[in-house]
Formats: sequence, structure tokens, C-alpha cells
Amino acid sequence: MARLVICILLVAAAAVQGRHEKYEGHQLYRVAGSSADISALEASLDIISATPGARTNSGKIEALIRLSPEVKQKWLEYFDQNDMSYTKIADNLANILRQEEQEIATARASANRNGGDMSWDTYYRHSEINDYIDKLGEQYPELVTVINAGLSYEGRQIKYVRISTTRFENLRKPVIVIDAAVHAREWVTPPVALYIIHQLVVDIVDRQLTDEIDWVIIPVVNADGYEYSIDTDRMWRKTRSRAHANSDACPGVDGNRNFDHHWGTSAASANPCSIIYEGPSPFSEPEIRVLRDAVLRQLSRTALYISLHSFGNMFLYAWGNNGTLPSNGLFLHMAGITMAEAIDELALEDASRYIVGNAANVLYFTTGTSRDWTRAIGIPLTYTLELPGYDYGFLVPPSYVKQIVTETWAGIAAGAHLVLNNL
Ligand SMILES: *[C@@H]1O[C@H](CO)[C@@H](O)[C@H](O)[C@H]1NC(C)=O
Repeated sequence: MARLVICILLVAAAAVQGRHEKYEGHQLYRVAGSSADISALEASLDIISATPGARTNSGKIEALIRLSPEVKQKWLEYFDQNDMSYTKIADNLANILRQEEQEIATARASANRNGGDMSWDTYYRHSEINDYIDKLGEQYPELVTVINAGLSYEGRQIKYVRISTTRFENLRKPVIVIDAAVHAREWVTPPVALYIIHQLVVDIVDRQLTDEIDWVIIPVVNADGYEYSIDTDRMWRKTRSRAHANSDACPGVDGNRNFDHHWGTSAASANPCSIIYEGPSPFSEPEIRVLRDAVLRQLSRTALYISLHSFGNMFLYAWGNNGTLPSNGLFLHMAGITMAEAIDELALEDASRYIVGNAANVLYFTTGTSRDWTRAIGIPLTYTLELPGYDYGFLVPPSYVKQIVTETWAGIAAGAHLVLNNL
């Protein structure tokens, strides 16, 4: 018996070891450059995040970039030649991933002792998240409708929650739509979506928001990618589809380039092996069609759409495709600032303040995003919300989840009140 246990432990240890081996010796660099410099890297490198360069000269943006040992020298020379300054942030990504896994295992062990409820200091599997929202649907049938909206490419059920005190039948109520985990590795986004549901349904912390608004919340859009990022590759961002040319070598599509808005107009997004691959056609991904259809279902009364991403402390609005502002640009900016300020008020002392701005002006041009598509089809307020990453990027340690869900709820609540008062 003892020998069997040891055997199992060894197998488990080997699995843990193996999962992150592909990142052995990969280093993380913070690279500063112009918007054009940084977006030129996007087609060939893993840009983990980009933020306006607070730490460097203004007008530059800073990207966090992963370099494998094989390509490191070549890229550092390229940065030198192009006058892009860089600093090494981490020496061995594999070690960081092992440590993260350890912390999550510890957090999960103590969360499990708390019984079946969601605990806001760890991460959950897709099936656990589905079970949780099913349970809410059973416990609060007057308020919560769980929609089994369709299957992912690999056959996982994508669920979302409709919250309404009037069964979505009062057509005078505004609607707010929120999605999470379009990008697989951005693990802190589903807890934020789940916490919003919890605040509206279980704790009812602000009854007006539950009573006077209808909510549509999709906690895990890219279910396949999310699971793949847990089981196999922590850095995975795209879907897991294999329905495009070269998909055996390079499976998956960037869900946030797959929307039908200036789709197919960016060379960097046309390459299936790029991390920002747009897919073979607009809405090629079943997961993105679920999101599209959830949005279209009550489009005329949807006032606010927020896509949760990680990371960078930013509210980004349209147009990402060309850097001009929509006709309501001033209101978009003002509403973004209202939400950002509500978050900043609760933020950790040394966290970066939120930045609010046009996506292309703050960062660089993007095509086929949900933010631009939802604005183009008529939703007045639409944002990409980049949550905090502190020093960890999207590898946010579970001990920060509570902080992020709490402060972000304050921002969402501020946005919701703005919707009630202004529209
Ligand atoms: C920028 O893109 C938006 C969205 O498609 C479009 O409405 C606008 O006319 C474009 N502006 C310019 C100057 O091209």
C-alpha cells in the first residue's frame, strides 16, 4: 500500500514537472518601444501584455515579452538595433509556473475544507464553474436563468447566466453584458464574473442594481482554451479549434480578433501561428458565436458591455481599428473614468492607477475585437477591461483574487448606476 501511494505521488510529481518544462529557461523582458515597434512584434512573439510606458519616456508603450533561449539573442539584438530599451524581469518562467501551481494547490486544499461554496482566493476548473452557476439557477429560480448556450469546439458546454427580477420581460430595463476568459490564460477573469453574479444574486449588496437592470454574464467563453491552459500549457491564449489551414501545427484562434469588425484587415492577424490569429472567417469559433448570440438577443436595450481581460489596469474603448473616436467618445471616456475611479479607490496602495482611453491610442491598432464590434452594432458603452496583474501579469497569485474581485465589483457597480441615471 505504502509503495503504491509513493508510486502515485511520483507519477503526480512527474506530471507537475512535465507540464511546465516547455518554458524551462524562458525569460520575461519588459521592452519599451513606439506603438508601431511593439505591434510589429505581435505577429512573431508572445506579447504577454502591453501597457502605456509609465516607467519610461512618455509616448512609448511597454510590452512584457517571453523569449525562449533559442531566440533570445536574436531578439535582444533586434531590440538594440531598433533603439528599444529592455529589462529582464524573470529568469526562468518554468519556475514561476511551478510556484504558481503550488500556491493554487494550497489555496484549493483550504477552499475545499470550506464546503461547496465559491471561495474568492483560488481558481476553479470549467466544470466546477458550470456546476456553481447551475446550483445558483436551482437556488434562485426567480432571479437566475442558466442558459446552456452551445458547445465549444471540443464539446464543452458553454453556459451563461441571465439575471432578472422580471424574467427579461420588462423591455424598459437596461441590460448589461459581461464576458470573461475569451483569452484562456487570463485566469483571474472568471472569478470576477462569478463575483458579480454573487453580488447581484446571493448577497444582493445593491438591490437597485438587481431590480432595475437585466444582466447577462458569461464566466468562461473559451472553455477549451481555459482547460488546456490548466492541464497542458499555462501560457495558452487562443481557442483549441482545428478548422483552419495549418491548424495541426497551430491550432486555435484569438477569440478577441474573431469578431466581424474590420476582420481580415490586419496582416499580423492573418497568420494561423500568430498568437493574435483572427481565424479563417469572422465568427468562425463556436465560443465566439455563443458570445455574439448572447449579445444580439437583447441588443436594443443593452447599455453597457464589458469584456474582462488580464492584465494592465485599463478601460479601453473604440475604435481600436483606426484610433478615431465613436460619436459618443466623450461619454465613453467619462463613463470609463467613473468606473476606473471607483476601482482605484479600493485598489492596493502600490497598484498602478487605471488608464482610460481609446484602445489604439493607448496601445496599438486591433481588428475584430468584441469591444469594437459591440460598439459598431449599437451598444453605447463598450470596453475591454484589463484587470490588475501587479508584478505577476496574468499569473495572478490566488491570494490576490479577493482584492481584484472586490475592487472590480465597485467599478461595475459604478458603471451600472451610471447606466440607470443617464440612459
Ligand atoms: C474608423 O473606424 C470606424 C469604425 O469602423 C469608422 O466608423 C470610422 O469612419 C473610421 N474613421 C476613419 C477616419 O477612417
